Amino acid sequence: MIKKNISVIGAGTMGNGIAHVFAQHGFTVTLIDINQTQLDKALVTIAKNLDRQVAKGSITEDNKQKTLTNLCTQKSIELGVANAELVVEAATENIDLKLSIFKQLDTFAPANAILASNTSSISITKIASVTKRPSQVIGMHFMNPVPVMKLVEIINGYATSNTVTTTITELSKQLQKVPCVVNDYPGFIANRILMPMINEAIFSLYEGIAGVEAIDTIMKLGMAHPMGPLQLADFIGLDVCLSILKVLHDGFGNPKYAPCPLLVNMVTAGMLGVKSGEGFYTYL
Ligand code: CAA
Repeated sequence: MIKKNISVIGAGTMGNGIAHVFAQHGFTVTLIDINQTQLDKALVTIAKNLDRQVAKGSITEDNKQKTLTNLCTQKSIELGVANAELVVEAATENIDLKLSIFKQLDTFAPANAILASNTSSISITKIASVTKRPSQVIGMHFMNPVPVMKLVEIINGYATSNTVTTTITELSKQLQKVPCVVNDYPGFIANRILMPMINEAIFSLYEGIAGVEAIDTIMKLGMAHPMGPLQLADFIGLDVCLSILKVLHDGFGNPKYAPCPLLVNMVTAGMLGVKSGEGFYTYL
């Protein structure tokens, strides 16, 4: 059972959301990033999102203050994970970076600590293989925005032990999330199903069958999705969508996962969605 100390690696959108949720549920969280500006920005974002929750009445001002007290930041992985019972890695979706981080986590985190990755598509088995504790490595895939979305997709690597899966399942429930356990194959479940839908929406646009607004409105009003697939792609990041589709395409060797040429072109042109200010929509 995880009692208290959680370390989160990476202070980007997912990392700050994950740190927020653990701190809100009484865990002591060390948020780690090599970039101090990013750490400062993450704390401001967390405070802003807590204000939103206070304004909606889902938490009290006292809960907000306690959550902020539960958070601290750290630039060094070595110092930041020294007392961790669980480390959740939410660094950029780059395999070499993740492998290098997990080697460091294996060296510096306590021997009994569980090492989790929030990866959306990189193999947990591969990540675990660079550590000396593959049975204690697991996927803990949160959805964006983390404080709002209920799902945690839990991914068992080839060697993940049943005890570790049970611990992470129970922990996710403590965060008032709904855990779903899946096995480690390309895209797991969430992105294996989501990305072909997004890719098909982009193909529909590319082939001139309908415009951006029509495609998104059809899926929003016709299927009761909160966002249309093109808006969701902008929100996730078009570069992230492309890289997940490549993992599916390479992993299964099936042409049905080939990324749409329009997606490839947009990413090459630097149109990455919300984060770059332009994707299928323009963001000011
Ligand atoms: N922190 C805290 N609260 C937040 C928040 C945040 N970051 N963002 C939104 N909220 C809260 C709001 O306060 C509001 O609360 P109430 O329901 O209590 O009123 C609620 O969330 C809805 O927010 P808004 O009214 O501002 O906006 P909205 O109704 O348009 O909802 C949304 C925003 C929740 C993002 C909704 O559009 C949505 O569900 N979109 C789809 C999200 C999705 O599919 N995420 C998964 C992406 S895939 C992924 O993450 C994994 C991957 O591997 C690619």
